[in-house]
Amino acid sequence: MRLISKSPRETKDAGKRLGRKLRAGDTVCLYGDLGSGKTTFVKGVAGSLGIPEREIASASFTIISEHEAKPPLYHIDLYRIDSEADLETTGVYDYIGGDGIAVIEWAEKMPETEVAVRVAINIFPGDEREIVIEGMEEDP
Ligand SMILES: Nc1ncnc2c1ncn2[C@@H]1O[C@H](COP(=O)(O)OP(=O)(O)OP(=O)(O)O)[C@@H](O)[C@H]1O
Ligand SMILES: [Mg+2]
Repeated sequence: MRLISKSPRETKDAGKRLGRKLRAGDTVCLYGDLGSGKTTFVKGVAGSLGIPEREIASASFTIISEHEAKPPLYHIDLYRIDSEADLETTGVYDYIGGDGIAVIEWAEKMPETEVAVRVAINIFPGDEREIVIEGMEEDP
């Protein structure tokens, strides 16, 4: 599925719509340049689970943030990871396919998880973003 977002609000809404379809054990891999809107999209996913969007922070020193919800949301940001060894020490694999929903920014830093929903965000001129979502079955 491909859509165009014209504002952060529209990107959040796209995240919210995807979030409503996610279940415990699902993984969402986010791809896109610095400032493309990955965290903004995650705020929408969080919103769909009843998590206040202010709880979703941008890349800090926290690689994994756990958010209480039903199911819980694991917000993972691999921006600072630069080796497979690094990745192992984060324990990121413990959060995938478990009791919660894992959303992963900078997912290109880990080997591809075949079962994941993939969200690619491309920066277009101005505030436009192209959002391409793969691996989630479309509504009938
Ligand atoms: N249509 C849009 N969708 C999302 N963000 C937008 C849009 N238009 C402008 N922006 C701006 O782009 C920035 C996106 O920031 P955000 O932190 O979500 O990006 P990110 O991909 O998570 O970056 P990083 O790679 O640093 O983690 C924000 O400043 C936001 O206001
Ligand atoms: Mg981010």
